[in-house]
Amino acid sequence: MSNFDIAKIVDTSDQWIYERTGIKNRRICSPDGGEYPTDMACRATEMALERAQMDVNSIDMILFASVTPDMQIPNSSSILQTKLGITNQCACMDISAACSGFVYGINVADSMIRSGSMKNILVVASEMLSREIDWKDRSSCILFGDGCGVAIISATDESDPSRIIATHLSTDGTGKKFFEKPIGGAVTPYTKEILEEDDWYMKMKGGEMFKVATRTLAANAKAVIKKAGLNLDKIDWMVPHQANQRIIDTTGSLLGIDSSKVIINIENVGNTSAASIPLAFHEAVDDGRIKKGDLILFDTFGAGLTSGATVFKY
Ligand SMILES: CC(C)(COP(=O)(O)OP(=O)(O)OC[C@H]1O[C@@H](n2cnc3c(N)ncnc32)[C@H](O)[C@@H]1OP(=O)(O)O)[C@@H](O)C(=O)NCCC(=O)NCCS
Repeated sequence: MSNFDIAKIVDTSDQWIYERTGIKNRRICSPDGGEYPTDMACRATEMALERAQMDVNSIDMILFASVTPDMQIPNSSSILQTKLGITNQCACMDISAACSGFVYGINVADSMIRSGSMKNILVVASEMLSREIDWKDRSSCILFGDGCGVAIISATDESDPSRIIATHLSTDGTGKKFFEKPIGGAVTPYTKEILEEDDWYMKMKGGEMFKVATRTLAANAKAVIKKAGLNLDKIDWMVPHQANQRIIDTTGSLLGIDSSKVIINIENVGNTSAASIPLAFHEAVDDGRIKKGDLILFDTFGAGLTSGATVFKY
């Protein structure tokens, strides 16, 4: 869906959206079915298994990060398990950490692997935000898109240099009102009246999110680089959460990182929440920019306000 398509729905323009966000297009799942978060996850996992030359039953656990799961019960990880044809009864758990869900997921996976309880963990980030967006609200509907990325995190032996080096996860709950969907939970369940009012969607204070985002992304990047015992100039690629081109640029300036080292794909996908970092990473691996052995920095923030950064050797 292009900015021109959105301008047919709300009072906006391609120029306004592009100048304020860097977005030109976003992907929208078919509302007719067959493209739900677990369907995208199934296709992405099949690609990942093929690349990793792994059998589906070697997965010990599925961690599924999403703010737009297929349904509330059961968890999407269990739905995905059957769609993938996994018969080993692997553990399945969903993660609710908004746009930070993928970074939280790979670090839960890393810890479980280091503890010795699991060998191969499938981390999924799959979002169908088009279902939760208020398509009447021009300040938010322009930003988001649907998408999915997955990673298989596996135990390696000492001879393999690939590893997660350091992680810094944090949350500032005092900012939770900046991005919320208060309707549809235990506090305020859907009622006939609420549905008729047609105002149950995600609500975002864009300006507040913008300010917090730049501060948090820069602080987390510095914290994780320090934990890793590195300097920023040792990082080959930074893959930030793709929320807004201006947020990415401001964070880059605050950190003093060379913009040629920052992976950005927001123009064609928009903000895909938890899927944003794996989608950008995948594109850069596929087009040859990111190579085996490169030092990568993931840096994210989202509703909650959750945030986190990870440094790893690919
Ligand atoms: C949402 C966002 C693009 C808005 O940009 P902004 O520069 O802050 O714009 P403002 O909200 O201050 O609005 C400025 C004006 O543009 C208008 N406007 C808002 N959306 C518009 C749109 N899509 N098209 C045209 N005008 C728009 C506003 O009504 C306002 O008009 P006014 O001055 O007459 O009241 C920006 O704040 C942002 O990206 N924030 C971060 C959001 C985010 O990342 N959320 C997800 C976190 S995971």
